[in-house]
Amino acid sequence: MRQTTFIKTLGFSLLTATLLVGCGGSSDSTTGTGTEGGDNTEGSGSNIPYLRDNHANYSEHGSAQIPAPTKDANAKSINWTIAATTEEGAFKLAEHINYMDAKLQEDENPRAFDKLFLMEAYMKFNRYYTTSVEQSSTNVVVSKNANTACAYEVISAHSDAVSGDFFGRGDITQNYSVIAEGILASSACNDVRTSVETYILERQK
Ligand code: HEM
Repeated sequence: MRQTTFIKTLGFSLLTATLLVGCGGSSDSTTGTGTEGGDNTEGSGSNIPYLRDNHANYSEHGSAQIPAPTKDANAKSINWTIAATTEEGAFKLAEHINYMDAKLQEDENPRAFDKLFLMEAYMKFNRYYTTSVEQSSTNVVVSKNANTACAYEVISAHSDAVSGDFFGRGDITQNYSVIAEGILASSACNDVRTSVETYILERQK
């Protein structure tokens, strides 16, 4: 009996430790894991530990600046042109974005503790924005196009986090829920507020 309890405890501890690797030690089970296991949003294509470790090997195409999106609020679009130092780096980044795009379309929730990522998942699954990714040699071009002002605010805030914390510092420990709450409270999100609040209540963990 005691042995069974010990084995269960050990198994739980190992699982917990595995899940904590890769996304800043949060209790998130959806980000980089030692075994690339975690839940169904964290397979071998997420490449999060690789991107975190190699964040400084990406720049804005044509300059040495940290990658940053070009935003167009009128068109509700954001566009990135990112240069990696190697083809492998470009491939890993494109694979990450395609992987996450697919997970969101499958109604999965990467980083489910964070309201900004939950809101983005909601917007993607409900077709309020689309993502396209193209890789050519060491370059990656990403376009995200929203069809509502609320969705645009969400993808815009997400891109700021990716540029500043992820690419800039390799820091994937921050929680962007307060930013998401501000967007959700804005008039841009009047039409979807109740639905998004319910979604967050049901999904956040
Ligand atoms: C906490 C770990 C991470 C999670 C959960 C995560 C998740 C995601 C998700 C859900 C998307 C949106 C896909 C879409 O909208 O179709 C995305 C996009 C992206 N990620 Fe990550 N990611 C993480 C870490 C990183 C890191 C460390 C980098 C680079 C250093 C990175 C670079 C990007 C880029 C460039 C995009 C596309 C641009 C954008 O969505 O604004 N991510 N990621």
